[in-house]
Amino acid sequence: MDFGMKNRLSNIINPKTGKTVMLAVDHGYFQGPTTGLKDLRKTVTPLLPLTDCLFITRGMLRTSIDPRSATPICLRVSGGPSVLGELSNEDITTSIEEAIRLNASGVGMSIFVGSKNEDRTISNLGRLVNEAERYGIPVLAITAVGREMVRDARYLSLACRIAAEIGAHFVKTYYCEDFYKIAEGCPVPIVMAGGKKIPERDALQMTFNAIKEGASGVDMGRNIFQSDNPVGMVKAIRAIVHKGASVDEAFEIYSKNKLSSQVVTE
Ligand code: R5P
Repeated sequence: MDFGMKNRLSNIINPKTGKTVMLAVDHGYFQGPTTGLKDLRKTVTPLLPLTDCLFITRGMLRTSIDPRSATPICLRVSGGPSVLGELSNEDITTSIEEAIRLNASGVGMSIFVGSKNEDRTISNLGRLVNEAERYGIPVLAITAVGREMVRDARYLSLACRIAAEIGAHFVKTYYCEDFYKIAEGCPVPIVMAGGKKIPERDALQMTFNAIKEGASGVDMGRNIFQSDNPVGMVKAIRAIVHKGASVDEAFEIYSKNKLSSQVVTE
């Protein structure tokens, strides 16, 4: 691995802890104005200093993020279909040149293993890796789960391993029972996506389990920005990911932060 690649990866994954807390706010690229992200700037601005890396599309980066922010960017570079269409019908939408212009530390795209267009999304990943490596830019492969797929360790292990074999430098996948089996079969770092909003304590428990079972962090969206206390949730997640906090300790961080923000706003 050359200097540029290592340097950018260490912008994303903290070399001191070997972990990362990424904030995913790319949902609009196929879902439109997702709950919590209608005013993306308002939602994200207070979370940016607490985030190791922001996962976002170029359109929202250009329009809604202060370019003076020091938070590293991982750019979502795939898209195509909307939530109303065939989700696996994705292609690369954003060039490496654009990623460099936007000073991205990494680029990310989805693969749809087992879905209608799995082969095209996997070969697109290969092409993206070829191009990104020319400039020392790490590639995040996201194992998108088609409506017809089951989110279990067997399926997600298959998808993560394929992503790594094709050359992804890190992989994002969902949590499931026996998550450790996914981590065991995947030679590159795995970050956990949060999935649909669940109660805060459950999201913290899921984070704790994923880290214990081999994840290198999270790239979480809805369980942070749809929380009643997004700042408290990021702080709590950071405590688990970077400091090895227990679920009780993390939940206390979330709850205390909620109380103090209520005191300030009331
Ligand atoms: C899918 O829309 C994206 O890849 C998200 O970045 C990913 O699912 C993480 O967001 P969440 O934690 O809301 O699932």
